Amino acid sequence: LFSAVEMAPRDPILGLNEAFNADTRPHKVNLGVGVYYSEAGRIPLLKAVELAEKTRAEAHAPRGYLPIEGVGTYDSAVQKLLFGADSEIIKSGRCVTSQAIGGTGALKIGADYLKRLLPDAVVAISDPSWQNHRALFEAAGFPVQNYRYYDAARQGVDLEGMLEDLRQLPRQSIIVLHACCHNPTGVDLSIEQWQAVLKVLQECEHVPFLDIAYQGFAEGIYEDAAAVRLFADSGMPFFVSSSFSKSFSLYGERVGALSIVADSAEEAGRVMSQLKLVIRTNYSNPPTHGATVVGLVLNTPELNALWQKELGEMRERIQLMRKLMVEQLAAKGAKRDFSFVAEQRGMFSYSGLTKEQVDRLRDEFAIYAVSSGRICVAALNLNNIDAVTDAIVQVL
Ligand code: LMR
Repeated sequence: LFSAVEMAPRDPILGLNEAFNADTRPHKVNLGVGVYYSEAGRIPLLKAVELAEKTRAEAHAPRGYLPIEGVGTYDSAVQKLLFGADSEIIKSGRCVTSQAIGGTGALKIGADYLKRLLPDAVVAISDPSWQNHRALFEAAGFPVQNYRYYDAARQGVDLEGMLEDLRQLPRQSIIVLHACCHNPTGVDLSIEQWQAVLKVLQECEHVPFLDIAYQGFAEGIYEDAAAVRLFADSGMPFFVSSSFSKSFSLYGERVGALSIVADSAEEAGRVMSQLKLVIRTNYSNPPTHGATVVGLVLNTPELNALWQKELGEMRERIQLMRKLMVEQLAAKGAKRDFSFVAEQRGMFSYSGLTKEQVDRLRDEFAIYAVSSGRICVAALNLNNIDAVTDAIVQVL
């Protein structure tokens, strides 16, 4: 049965973890996967999460099946976080939200539902994008194209190229957009640029699919949802996949959500009935723990404030690491100006290192990065940053 099965390539991001875990060099550093590590080099368990888990454990709650769309109080808290508590789309009921198995799970159920809704559509993702975007939409049966996004020469956005490519796609194409903290580049659209993109999407009747996995890692929870609110105000239908993996440091709990904004509450109700069919045949209904904990934190004012404070501390530590990285690389005589690293947003720096340089970092220095040159700045700390900047200077 399996004699002709070929070995599949390792996942470009999670495959790095496998190689990193197998590496026995004690000084190894993992700058591959998008995970925040504390100054002590550990994945933090947030205090707000710890307190909510205590409450939950003490309640001895039964673990029955959840509704197909997950924990209701969690779903409504997600909407408030994305659109703002006073949002018209929440009041009108034209947005439906379902708990999902992480941000990836939200993309997956969204993609499967879209395949039923628009079977002949084209999907367009930014060039470059998170590697799993292409794989995931192709696995759902869509042809996937790139639209121009990152201009390496300017270390900024190629807005003209992006708009031109979006205009040339067939009407009603599905456009995947990073709402903040673009992965892998760390380069986001300004609000004026978002307005220009939105105008083209409306003209072409494209279907925006906003992916927001790093809300709170650029400027703040409210600020980082500016693009989502812009789309909400536009009146056009759109999809949002969101994740608490990073912002709650709950990677393994797989806590995400898919929100779909329709024209009316009645339409949204029909959409949700279809989405439930997709979920039921994928994984039936979601797990209880992570979303209950996140829901408790979001819906309890003191825990919510504590969480936002802890998230702010993570954000500030990343910004400090960016600053130190730029300073150290300059002081060590790096053959390139790295000041752009301080301007990039979120967990990543698109360093400009080539695949060969990334290979050397791994082979000679036990420093793991994604082959595209993406470095997870959130994994740097005062103990490893010296070794990392030394190694970068060496491989340049
Ligand atoms: C990443 O880009 O490293 C993260 O989103 C983790 C993942 O699933 O790839």
